[in-house]
Amino acid sequence: MKKMLTASLVLVATLFAAGSVAAKSTKEISPYPLGERSVFSDRAIEERIKPVGSVCVEGDECGSAAAPAEEVASGPRSGEQVYNGSCAACHGTGAAGAPKMGDAASWAPRIAKGEATMLKNAINGINAMPPKGMCMDCSDDEINAAIEYMVSKSQ
Ligand code: HEC
Repeated sequence: MKKMLTASLVLVATLFAAGSVAAKSTKEISPYPLGERSVFSDRAIEERIKPVGSVCVEGDECGSAAAPAEEVASGPRSGEQVYNGSCAACHGTGAAGAPKMGDAASWAPRIAKGEATMLKNAINGINAMPPKGMCMDCSDDEINAAIEYMVSKSQ
């Protein structure tokens, strides 16, 4: 008898719990108002057929947010940026026998060879120095800027 009572109490509790789940407000079921919930509603159809992208002409309101970011990405990197990203690994520590930035004695004989020779060697690689310091997307100007940056700190 006691067992049955417990069982029915559990059943009642379960039904209550189920009831509270079912009693979700309509807002929780769909964020859209009643007439716009169906996949056949104008809202849903417009969403499905809207273009994946849109063209924004310069001067239009829509482009103002994206334009500055593009400028940053397309401009040449400064010598310091290239150095930090691609050269510091070796030239910051002297790894693999690289002339260390700030070490005037090891840079002096290289500076004496002239800028053009140093640039050529940096682009093509020399001994343990890999071509372009492995910065394959660096332009020659960017490599040159990085050399100038290192040299300016190593005299
Ligand atoms: C993997 C290590 C490494 C990286 C990365 C590296 N270098 Fe070097 N670099 C060297 C070594 C080693 C030498 C010395 C080569 C020698 O003369 O034997 C050297 C030498 C140089 C020289 C002197 C060349 C000459 O004519 O004497 C320049 C200039 C130079 N590196 C520029 C750069 C620039 C710019 C970067 C980054 C874009 C860079 N290096 C990245 C290892 C590296």
